[in-house]
Amino acid sequence: MYQLIDGKATSAQIKEEIAEEVKQFVKQGGKIPHLAAILVGHDGASETYVASKERSCQQVGFNSTIIRLEDSITEAELLKKVEEINKNVDIDGLIVQLPLPDHINEQKVIEAVLPEKDVDGFHPVNVGRMVIGLPAFISATPAGILELFKRYNIKTSGKSCVVIGRSNIVGKPMGILLSRKSEYGNATVTLCHSRTPNIKEVCLNADIVIAALGKAEFLTGDMVKEGAVVIDVGITRVKSDKTKSGWKLLGDVKFDEVAPKCSYITPVPGGVGPMTIVSLLKNTLLASKEK
Ligand code: GUN
Repeated sequence: MYQLIDGKATSAQIKEEIAEEVKQFVKQGGKIPHLAAILVGHDGASETYVASKERSCQQVGFNSTIIRLEDSITEAELLKKVEEINKNVDIDGLIVQLPLPDHINEQKVIEAVLPEKDVDGFHPVNVGRMVIGLPAFISATPAGILELFKRYNIKTSGKSCVVIGRSNIVGKPMGILLSRKSEYGNATVTLCHSRTPNIKEVCLNADIVIAALGKAEFLTGDMVKEGAVVIDVGITRVKSDKTKSGWKLLGDVKFDEVAPKCSYITPVPGGVGPMTIVSLLKNTLLASKEK
């Protein structure tokens, strides 16, 4: 029988821990942590994520500011806004919600955020520091997955781990973090992607599979070995007439087929998603304390 990794409950507990830490920090004369989010345009998923980040800030006692900008904003105007927030000493962390409209160079915007305020951990300085094992802001989703391993006491040392997907935000940093010489590292990592020819065989050999390719229900029951740990990072929104919102979320894992073979598995929703937000909060608290 598999054990469900409950990201929702774990994140709720961590939020309580953060709230307590903020209380103590402020009591000792520290400033209330402040996260700013820039949201360009009206993408439905981005609106939902940013609203959820704002709600989470309130839950732990952070200040938050959402800066809403129209799709028509120019790259120069957006960069100017980022610069303004870089200089604003009251703001500890800044995230620019992705994706950005096509006419804006995303990488240029990422690199405009001060590394000390880059609580998403997307700036090359933070990525580079993470790669060589220096203290850095670590991308929120991989950090959240490591936290789940820690809280559920899932050992990675000596294990064979497959990461499917090579995005800058999840797949690449996840692979590096799992192969680091650290307690929740020391795994032998295989990074698979769309050109990997024998993905099924590779996955069948894995003790831990992290599915982060963004393809709904890609990982099927015949692709995992008995007793594997499966982490589902996918969140594909599909129309549904069974939910109030008219949408439902599908993971990258075909849960009903895969779960019976697993020792541990994350659900979608309620698995990795809530942990991502908690990692962002942790990074913001760190940014605020380090100032
Ligand atoms: N879009 C999808 N995931 C993320 C994230 O973690 N941070 C930001 N800024 N944008 C995203």
